Parts: sequence; structure tokens; C-alpha cells
Amino acid sequence: MKRPRLLTPGPVNLHPAAVRALARPQLHHRSSEAGELVRELRARIAKLANSRGEAVLLGGSGTAAMEAAVRGLFRPGARVWVPVAGKFSERWCEIARAAGLEPVCDAYDWGQAVPPGAVPARPLDGALLTHSETSTGVLQPLAELAARFRERHPEALLAVDAVTSFALTPLRMDDWKLDAVVLGSQKGLMSPPGLAAVVLGPRGLEALRPAGYYLDLARELRAQRAHQTAFTPPINLIEAAAAVMRALEAEGWEARFERVREANEGFYALGETAGLVPVPEPGTRRSPAVAAFYLPRGTPYVEVSRAFAARGWRIAGGQGPLKGSIFRVSAMGYFEPGELERAYGDFRQLLKRPT
Ligand SMILES: Cc1ncc(COP(=O)(O)O)c(C=O)c1O
Repeated sequence: MKRPRLLTPGPVNLHPAAVRALARPQLHHRSSEAGELVRELRARIAKLANSRGEAVLLGGSGTAAMEAAVRGLFRPGARVWVPVAGKFSERWCEIARAAGLEPVCDAYDWGQAVPPGAVPARPLDGALLTHSETSTGVLQPLAELAARFRERHPEALLAVDAVTSFALTPLRMDDWKLDAVVLGSQKGLMSPPGLAAVVLGPRGLEALRPAGYYLDLARELRAQRAHQTAFTPPINLIEAAAAVMRALEAEGWEARFERVREANEGFYALGETAGLVPVPEPGTRRSPAVAAFYLPRGTPYVEVSRAFAARGWRIAGGQGPLKGSIFRVSAMGYFEPGELERAYGDFRQLLKRPT
């Protein structure tokens, strides 16, 4: 059976450069060619994050990188601020608790932007922020939140989930004084799931301590500085992600960011014209990674997802409290020429007649 094409906010349709890389003969991870790919990808990721620091690659999904960052940068008992406005900021909170930290988890409405004025004045060891909240479609005001946090807590560490912002919208680690940023391969890098990374800025590198075993960033950093990895890495995914970054760099990152933003706004324009209500509250910035809409009253999610499926597309529903009340589509993956227009055409049809 033909597989549906993905309009999901991760994983996404693979970039042809990834597909070509994956079709190559298996590389041995201790070969010099593999070492060169590790070096190249680490350098490319740190450069795209606009960081003077270093990227550490990990086998695992984005959540592995979140956990590795929390355990490597903070000790049990550390007080970290986590503004929770969706599924993934909630995950920061859960990871921090599981690692024995004392997170201060402040709840906001899902769909809301976290106001920079909300940064607590009480003493803190750090903050865990989410740049693009994929569960709601909100692009949080990261630069402003980070600036306010730095003002109030100059010594504390700032870690950011950039899983659906990296390679999709500008990320300025040095300018925004971020100490750690996490990402995964199956979103803006248009590669299969299973590879994650933590980019550590100078203060993040300094604060890093050994923690755990497989997800020990300090151990990985040591190995990767020698163009090795501590364990068998997902070398095929490293090769794929490096190939995609090469291809996207050739196109130009600014052009790519603009193209993804426009593609996503294309879905919003169609939905809003037809009377659908976006999940991001009016006045908030929208993530380029996903367009999220409330379901029309009386229309269950399965009806919408089936209608898309009948036309060859897979979409995503809501998570947590938004499960059953929203649907999400994404244009962050790869589309063949004309394919996105076909997706818009099908969406337009569905908006007229949902089944
Ligand atoms: C913003 C954000 N953070 C973290 C994650 C978790 O990543 P993974 O599913 O790769 O563990 C996701 C996945 O959708 C995400 O969108």
C-alpha cells in the first residue's frame, strides 16, 4: 500500500539528500570517513545555532538530548524555572523532576506566549525554555525571555528546547546568551528520527559535569573532540543530516527560513479564510514548524484525519488537554515540486466539505 505523505510536525518527509545518504553502503563508525562526518556535523550545527560553543551528538530522539542537558548541567536540588505552555515545556518539567531538581513550573494557557515579565525574581539556578511549542504552534519570545532572565539571574544557566525551531527559524545562541540548546534529526533537518544534539555555549561547557552513563554529555564531548563517539553512533543518520545541511546551506539559510514560514502561513491563510480558529492566541508569534487549528464545533478529529488520509496525507491531532479539540499540519518537511500546492488544494476542498 502506498504510504501517506507526511504533513505532521515530525517526523517529516525526508530530504532527497538524506535518502541518497541512507542508500550508501554501511560505513564503519571507527573509520576516518565517519570521524570526518562527526566533525562536520558538529561544526555545522554549532554554526547554525550561532554559537561559539560546541555541539555534542547523541543517539536518541530529542527527548534524550533534553534529559542529557538537564542532568549534565544541573545537580539534584537545583531550582530551575519552567514556564509550561504546552506538551514540550511540560516535558522539561517532568525531566527536571525525574533528575531530582526542584523545578518551579509556572502554568500558562496552551496557545499563549509566555510573557517575559513572568521571569521570577526569586533565586534560581537555571531555566528550561521551549522555543517552538509544537503542541500549540506558538513561537515563544525566546530573545525577550532570555534577556529578562539574564538581567534577573546573571549566574544561572539557560537551556532551550529548539527541537522544532532549529534549521527552521533564526537561533542566536551567543547573542541571546543561551547556555544549551537541544535539537533532533526528524524535524527541520528532514532526516529520520534517532539522532539528537545538545549545543553548549561557553558557560554550558564550563558547567558540564559527568552524569549518567549513555547520555553523559561530558563523556561524549571528550570523545567527539577527538572526532570519535563514546558508543556506536547512528552514523547513517549523521551522514544524512550532514548531507541535508550541506544542501540547505547551498540554498541559503535565510531563504530556507522564509520559505518554511511562508509555507506554514499558507495553511493558516486557508484555514482562517474558511473560519477556522488558530490555536496560537492572537498577537503571538507563530512557529514556522506547524499550523494548529481548533476543530470546527461538532467535527471529531478522526473525521478530519480520515479525510486527509483519503487524499494521501497524514496529519496530527492535539496532545494533552488539546487532544480531541485541535488538529495540526506542518510544512517543515520536504515536498516534491507541486506537492505542497496539492496539499493546499486538498485542504481547501476539505474545508468546503470535510468528508
Ligand atoms: C518542541 C519539541 N520538543 C521536544 C520534542 C521531543 O522530541 P522527540 O519526540 O524527538 O523525543 C518534540 C517532538 O515532537 C518537540 O516538538
